[in-house]
Amino acid sequence: QEQMFQLVGAPLVENCLSGFNSSVFAYGQTGSGKTYTMWGPANGLLKEHLSGDQRGLTPRVFERLFARIKEEQVKHAERQLNYQCRCSLLEIYNEQITDLLDPSQKNLMIREDVKSGVYVENLTEEYVNNLGDVSQLLIKGLGNRRTGATSVNAESSRSHCVFTCVVESRCKNVADGLSSFKTSRINLVDLAGSERQKLTGAAGERLKEAGNINRSLSQLGNLINILAEISQTGKPRHIPYRG
Ligand SMILES: Nc1ncnc2c1ncn2[C@@H]1O[C@H](COP(=O)(O)OP(=O)(O)O)[C@@H](O)[C@H]1O
Ligand SMILES: [Mg+2]
Repeated sequence: QEQMFQLVGAPLVENCLSGFNSSVFAYGQTGSGKTYTMWGPANGLLKEHLSGDQRGLTPRVFERLFARIKEEQVKHAERQLNYQCRCSLLEIYNEQITDLLDPSQKNLMIREDVKSGVYVENLTEEYVNNLGDVSQLLIKGLGNRRTGATSVNAESSRSHCVFTCVVESRCKNVADGLSSFKTSRINLVDLAGSERQKLTGAAGERLKEAGNINRSLSQLGNLINILAEISQTGKPRHIPYRG
């Protein structure tokens, strides 16, 4: 868990503080350790286990994020650096988005506008100030998944789960007293199981479910290949964000 944090978590926090968006996807077969990697072991988000050495990527990222925010605030005290973080948690099952912080909201729509970019309409966002706030939110939200947060139940492998934190910072420019504003996002994603979802013999709901998972994972794979190719070759090409 510590290696994973050093490899992807620590750079993600620095990216975020520099104003860039970052996403981590856990991709793999059911049972390969996606949920364990992202959130940690069962009950690992409880206060008494939050400092355990098996804790997952998410608690490590937020521990670091809040520590770095404090550091930055002290370092740039004269600029009145001020951070606000707000989080949301959603589940995508059969192409439908459920708000895990308010599970009565079951079929949320994806919208896009010039100001906010792509966003999920009416998704609950809650302010967080420390690791304890984040873990409380995750315990509550993951408990609203189609299965318990960490159960190895087959159902949890049929939905994608997305935890997003929007980090906003404001500061004053010492020279002219003007305020500047930066915003960035962290997306931590526990994907549906990547095993071949059997279409043979499946009917009704199961068939639809299998088709949706296969399609979404293969589109995501294509997209990431294209982004990787662009970053390696520098050649511009169409990016199929919408599949
Ligand atoms: N690195 C690890 N160390 C110890 N146990 C692990 C590790 N990764 C996964 N496990 C255990 O293996 C099982 C499957 O992991 P899980 O994260 O639920 O898989 P997935 O979410 O990919 O289906 C769980 O019981 C989990 O606790
Ligand atoms: Mg899982």
